Amino acid sequence: MLDAPDTDPLNPPERTLMGPGPSEVHPRVLRIMSAPLIGHLDPAFIEIMNEVQDLLRYTFQTENRWTIPVSGTGSASMETAFGNLVEPGDTVLVPTNGYFGGRMESMARRAGGEVVHVDAPWGEPLDPDDVAAAFEVHDPDVFGFVHAETSTGVLQPNVSELTSIAHEHDAYVIADCVTSLGGVELRVDEWDIDVAYSGGQKCLSCPPGASPLTLNDRAMEKVLDRDTEVRSWYLDLSLLEGYWGDDRSYHHTAPITNVYALREALQLVAEEGLENRWERHREVAGELKAGLEELGLEMNSDDEFWLPSLNAVRIPDSVDDGELLAELQEKHDLEIASGLGDLEGEILRIGCMGYSAQRKNVEFVLSALEEALANQGYEA
Ligand SMILES: Cc1ncc(COP(=O)(O)O)c(C=O)c1O
Repeated sequence: MLDAPDTDPLNPPERTLMGPGPSEVHPRVLRIMSAPLIGHLDPAFIEIMNEVQDLLRYTFQTENRWTIPVSGTGSASMETAFGNLVEPGDTVLVPTNGYFGGRMESMARRAGGEVVHVDAPWGEPLDPDDVAAAFEVHDPDVFGFVHAETSTGVLQPNVSELTSIAHEHDAYVIADCVTSLGGVELRVDEWDIDVAYSGGQKCLSCPPGASPLTLNDRAMEKVLDRDTEVRSWYLDLSLLEGYWGDDRSYHHTAPITNVYALREALQLVAEEGLENRWERHREVAGELKAGLEELGLEMNSDDEFWLPSLNAVRIPDSVDDGELLAELQEKHDLEIASGLGDLEGEILRIGCMGYSAQRKNVEFVLSALEEALANQGYEA
């Protein structure tokens, strides 16, 4: 018999979350998470599922029937997209301009795809001419791009141009909208995106665990016409369709509390209005960006491609990012993050997402950062 570990009741610290995610959760979302569980096939839960799907359609700006929350974090909705769309032998075009293009590559390869690349430096978006050239050379079946690259703070413009290049070649487009959904302009139907996925813990300000995914009929036809089974049973859309489609039959037990949370987070999006929400992110993050520049810090990307939900700034030469982040956390209970992948040690990543996108948080980040930078001898 093992002894029980000597632990106390849980009491996590209270942090101000201004990193690349999770963002702070709205009190209404936290409250609904303590509501009693009901069964995942209870008629009352089925009504909640319908509402979540409708609210997701609004937030993605799509009429896609196949619009669901995938059980798991953003990587689960991402893997559902790649694992279902990509069949063994398909050619998959992925970007090299950030960390999450690399994750697309890994998922596409595991699904049996032959991966080819369209290049752009970290810190720049894809150029439609380069995408067109990559299509001429490789004629891919599936093209993935990252709408809001959390590792670089770059927002991909010209999405409609990218999708029309892909569709001229009869390819399917998968868009990573993890750091854009509910925070920056995204119009899935108008921009002709075939598959878009996201996560809860960024601009929706929901705890991670139920992750938005939408597919148009054309993409779902490809999935349902596959010659081979999807490698993951858990994420196989042809099986998940039984639960989220007309039948409402058991596949796996939905993460009920996470679905409540997402329902309330999406309700808050609907109450605020999507366009107002995009505007709030632009305005509040605009103040953050202006304040960072006043501190003498340089943004990692051009203003043209600025991503309000994730502000990436270059770390001044004299500053140690590890020490800086530790001071912000220990002294101010404030979370921001350092760089990922190729930009590790080069940038700081400051999120401005969902419920965290508030003026008081921006003022707090700027004053704490100014103090922590000064403690390392940095002068603006
Ligand atoms: C652009 C992007 N894609 C995918 C993911 C993966 O999401 P998760 O960490 O929730 O699995 C993230 C998470 O930060 C992300 O920023």
